[in-house]
Amino acid sequence: MRLLLLGANGQLGCDLLRVFRTAGDSVIPATHAEVEVASLDRVSQVLAETKADVVLNTAAFHKVEECEKNPALAFQVNATGAMNLARVCHQSGAVLVHFSTDYVFDGHKRAPYEETDLPSPLNVYGASKVAGEQLIACNAERYFIIRTCGLYGVAGSSGKGGNFVENMLRKALAGDAMRVVDDQVLTPTYTVALAQATRDLILTQKFGLYHLSCEGQCSWYEFARSILELAGVDAELSPVKTTDFPSTVRRPSYSVLSKVKFRSLALSIPSWQEALSRYLQERSTQRHLASVAPTQVSL
Ligand SMILES: NC(=O)c1ccc[n+]([C@@H]2O[C@H](COP(=O)([O-])OP(=O)(O)OC[C@H]3O[C@@H](n4cnc5c(N)ncnc54)[C@H](OP(=O)(O)O)[C@@H]3O)[C@@H](O)[C@H]2O)c1
Repeated sequence: MRLLLLGANGQLGCDLLRVFRTAGDSVIPATHAEVEVASLDRVSQVLAETKADVVLNTAAFHKVEECEKNPALAFQVNATGAMNLARVCHQSGAVLVHFSTDYVFDGHKRAPYEETDLPSPLNVYGASKVAGEQLIACNAERYFIIRTCGLYGVAGSSGKGGNFVENMLRKALAGDAMRVVDDQVLTPTYTVALAQATRDLILTQKFGLYHLSCEGQCSWYEFARSILELAGVDAELSPVKTTDFPSTVRRPSYSVLSKVKFRSLALSIPSWQEALSRYLQERSTQRHLASVAPTQVSL
């Protein structure tokens, strides 16, 4: 496969690059500085230059508080950007692989969300991602829209500044007492596990909308407790409620995604516990490699 990877510096982007290249694919990474997805001209130019047959789009504006303050920008990146990619991919015959979010749902269901459940976002970010999904569906035919959840990867989220696992470990090692919500349930997902499952899914050529996160579910508090246990770190950790952290943005209190459709293709993804163990083993090696690696060749 010859792939163009947008958002290549992001946490999912970094692991997609690593996983696909390790599998022997030719990947052309493009950072935000190189390609702005909201520019149809630039997107069209880069696809013509690279002649990619698959476009992986991880680019997003996903700081939820900032999206509330700047809905125009949220829609420009998450909706218009997605539409631009769908149009140029449709014209060139490339497959578009676009990442979306559990935040398209309101969390009221209390059972894993299926692809057939109607989106009902609670905030601007979720609404802009739903718009992006719909604009892809009406502008392209050969696409995968992958809704995922609770990402963490060694690179850390460039849009959010780090990842939850590292934040917990840093606070624990500093001796800080930690309070973590136990009334928001999700599936934490290691970006390497997602990248591998994404590659498996692309190879099926069974286009469409998929839910893809690790298996299982937990609250943020349970996730934090597992991080500390598996890392062998002692810390003062207590469960609290979402209402203890007043926020201007509403978030779904339940956002577990059903993987029944993904599994029906005879594909699998690890449980969040297995993926967390693997992340903790790999993080030291990865960081060391990153610190000695030469600058990546890109566009
Ligand atoms: N993080 C999560 O927990 C989570 C959960 C569910 C779904 N998702 C979805 O998963 C995808 C990847 O998330 P992530 O955590 O890897 O995010 P990330 O680390 O913030 O990476 C996003 C990348 O997109 C780039 N980007 C931002 N705006 C762009 C634009 N207008 N044009 C081109 N590139 C742009 C960013 O570059 P700069 O930083 O240089 O701007 C960054 O490299 C996103 O679609 C997100 O909506 C994430």
